[in-house]
Amino acid sequence: MCGIVGYIGTKNAVDIVYKGLQQLEYRGYDSAGIAAISGGELLLEKEEGKLINLEKHLSKFPTTQEIAIGHTRWATHGKPSRENAHPHATEMFALVHNGIIENYEEIKSELIKEGYRFQSETDTEVIVVLLQKLYDELKSIEGAIAKTFSRLEGAFSLGILAKDDPESMYLVKQGSPLVIGRGSGENYFGSDITTFAEVAKYAIFLNDGEWAKVTKDSIELWDHDGNAVKIKPTPINWTPGSADKHGYRHYMLKEIHEQPAVISKAITNFVEGNQLNSEALGVNALACEKITNISIVACGTAYIAGMLSKYFLEDLTSLPVNVDLASEFRYRKPHMLKEGKTLVIAVSQSGETADTLASIKHAKEAGCQIMSVCNVAYSSIDRESDSTLLMQAGPEIGVASTKAFTSQILCLYLWANAFSQRIGTLDQIGVEKMLEKLSSLPVHVNSAMNCEEGIHDIVNRFYEFPNFLYVGRGPSYPIALEGALKLKEISYIHAEGYASGELKHGPIALVDKHMPIVALAPKDDYYDKTISNIEEIKAREGLIIGVGDDQDQTLKRLCDAVIACPQVDNAAFQAILTTIPIQFLAYYIAVKRGTDVDQPRNLAKSVTVE
Ligand code: G6P
Repeated sequence: MCGIVGYIGTKNAVDIVYKGLQQLEYRGYDSAGIAAISGGELLLEKEEGKLINLEKHLSKFPTTQEIAIGHTRWATHGKPSRENAHPHATEMFALVHNGIIENYEEIKSELIKEGYRFQSETDTEVIVVLLQKLYDELKSIEGAIAKTFSRLEGAFSLGILAKDDPESMYLVKQGSPLVIGRGSGENYFGSDITTFAEVAKYAIFLNDGEWAKVTKDSIELWDHDGNAVKIKPTPINWTPGSADKHGYRHYMLKEIHEQPAVISKAITNFVEGNQLNSEALGVNALACEKITNISIVACGTAYIAGMLSKYFLEDLTSLPVNVDLASEFRYRKPHMLKEGKTLVIAVSQSGETADTLASIKHAKEAGCQIMSVCNVAYSSIDRESDSTLLMQAGPEIGVASTKAFTSQILCLYLWANAFSQRIGTLDQIGVEKMLEKLSSLPVHVNSAMNCEEGIHDIVNRFYEFPNFLYVGRGPSYPIALEGALKLKEISYIHAEGYASGELKHGPIALVDKHMPIVALAPKDDYYDKTISNIEEIKAREGLIIGVGDDQDQTLKRLCDAVIACPQVDNAAFQAILTTIPIQFLAYYIAVKRGTDVDQPRNLAKSVTVE
């Protein structure tokens, strides 16, 4: 994981790098550091904990430095500590790294045998020590970098400063993302373009095996064998959007509240009169008629959105739909992937999740068409895909995904409709009926928000319980998984989601008067069976928090508390509505327990290592 950033130009480089790190904190936030060159000296400051802890050290840098690199960490090798924080440095070099060096133990033991000493437990420090050793032997910075590069195995993007060359930043890319931002009289680099999207005019995405030398006025690029690579700048026509809290206590709360606007914007973006905009939905770029099966890959909440979409995708397309965790899919045999016939849909808010990206590459090798549903333009997954549906939900900062999830559900649903119309399994009348229901969705989403007020009583009654179960049937099953995921990641309460029908196959053994169970009970096709399951829980004295129609007397009678949720006659839209109460429930329980809601322990917004 981790985020790296660098600047060379005429402005205060440390300031710019610090601001860049603020943008990259989604990639890790357990420690951070910055290195700069000033007056012929390599200056270095790092600190354990959130980036804000580094701020007090910034005044130690002179204000005149014009070159700096920075790092925000999510620990892989070695605990979060000042010693393990990047940059790692030797006499000549300072280096920041995103990724994992798989052969670091082998290199480290060789270096130790030769008398080199290490200050940290990281895999990264071997790179900079090796670099120093090779520089001492070769007396060439470029030669030492090239040779170091050829020794490393794993995934890594590197930013390097050399004390004796204060006019250059050196970059290396293998596996982990790295992009240069070209300005005029200044240049940037970062793990993604958000660090410089508002100031640089062009992005230069490095490919695996490439390395670069960047001065304030020039960029040189080489491949692994040292051959010059022609630079292909991409104009940046995208701004990441406002990342302000707008007065909300947490980003997560702000993002929950943004959902009505995000849903309305999606309707504007993807619907034109009585038609779906198949261009914006990414349908036009695909050879739709060749597709015989669909495979969805994703991680975390995006995977749950994929799981949910299977319910309506199969129904609308009449095609077999497979949903896989990207971390599993990437190692599966490609027999399931049919050349030219399988459409692989990668769902990813950030567009940078390592396993999802690797799954795309795996599917590409098998000759599949690739579509992605992404929130970040120019992200690695966007660029690797044949077609991208850009969600345009605005930046999501809270680690626990909220608005991206409901946006993914809607985008996948609209895509499924447009695609089905293209392949002939849905006619124009069907589309128009759906659009009619869609037009009232923003109103329903708005009224789903009203449950916030009443939720505090429920939170006060239940926030101290150490375990929760979430249950649902049909499309409410993935929502049960999402509810449990939301609760555990931000409140640290142990929570599990189950298909209601699975209760009797094990989890019901956990039910007693100390077990709160969130039962998702919308008035859908599965309602009667859901109620039977709730009865079974009641018979075992489980504490039931129902989510459904608050006028539903049966639900009221059976449940200890009911969170109201509007009811609609469309499975995908109902799933969006059922999600909102479980987001508020997790949020307010976490707040009551006093956890770090936006940056929960051990997590990161974007998981860029396996
Ligand atoms: C992390 C985040 C989750 C997210 C998952 C997948 O675990 O904390 O919120 O769902 O990564 O991320 P992606 O950016 O690919 O959707």
